[in-house]
Amino acid sequence: MDPEATLEEARPRIAACEDTAALKEAERDYVGKKGAISAMLAEIPKLDPADRKAHGQKANALKQAILELVQARQAALDARDLDAARRADDFDPTLPPPVAQRGSLHPITQVTRELEDLFVSMGYEVLDGPEVELDHYNFEALNITKDHPARDSQDTFYCDETGTLVLRTHTSPVQVRAMEGRTPPFRVIAPGRVFRQETTDASHDHTFYQMEGLVVGKDVSVAHLIGAMKTLLRGIFGRDLDVRLRPGHFPFVEPGFELDARCPFCDDGCSVCKKTTWIELLPCGLVHPNVLRAGGVDPEEWSGFAFGLGLSRLVMLRHNIDDVRHLLDGDVRFLEQF
Ligand code: PHE
Repeated sequence: MDPEATLEEARPRIAACEDTAALKEAERDYVGKKGAISAMLAEIPKLDPADRKAHGQKANALKQAILELVQARQAALDARDLDAARRADDFDPTLPPPVAQRGSLHPITQVTRELEDLFVSMGYEVLDGPEVELDHYNFEALNITKDHPARDSQDTFYCDETGTLVLRTHTSPVQVRAMEGRTPPFRVIAPGRVFRQETTDASHDHTFYQMEGLVVGKDVSVAHLIGAMKTLLRGIFGRDLDVRLRPGHFPFVEPGFELDARCPFCDDGCSVCKKTTWIELLPCGLVHPNVLRAGGVDPEEWSGFAFGLGLSRLVMLRHNIDDVRHLLDGDVRFLEQF
């Protein structure tokens, strides 16, 4: 048998194999026990001893060559099958690989968590309250009488016909719930979502976020309030800012204030402070005796201060956001920036 001729015969046959089974069969025909190469090796004893070595070497070289052809063909078949499988799967190997989409915390969540950490470090407890609230906690217990304009249906979403249940219009109801559940002295904050029936525009939304603060103790005064607010400002803006109090009216505090801070963005007037160098930070005041009483706290023995920080507004200030509605409209192009 002529090894060269065998190789030339094997080459097209192997190349023509269309699946692994055909390839195995071809392989067997050449290198198997009953194959051509075995036959060549079987001839050796019959040969002239001088020719045996060369004959054996040729047989082995042929075997090697055929095995290489088989391997190469098998690799080609595998590649073809994989390709077909991918196509059947709609797998497009030219597409860029999927990149894990990394989410981020909403800017309101970020500022809420930062402030929670800050107040917890000052010994405050973080409280939660119901968003669907009883009229009693949202108004009555806060010294907001039946005829107070804040109760106007313009501002309040009522949840039932009797008007017992409302969507809370502020986080202040948590003040009374906090007093009911603890004995003074205590300090709490209550961040959360609040609702007002309002025509929406760039600075008003029907849903926004506040953080209530309440401290009740012995001889708690306006000085304590100012001290706490200065610490709050340091936490938010990273440095000390002067504050000033203007009178503000809220039925549940007496006296009540609007607390302004020196504009953290300029020295001599900018668009954020509307050229006044002051920014309105938050309403606050000393807890009205009627509210302490409603919460089961004796106003003769205890006093307290409360503040209501507008978290939505704070986030807008911090990130220079010009429309409050961006915060809740769920647009990923907005959210991706945080
Ligand atoms: N709850 C008031 C509001 O939403 C703010 C406030 C809180 C005022 C605490 C004084 C004390 O407008």
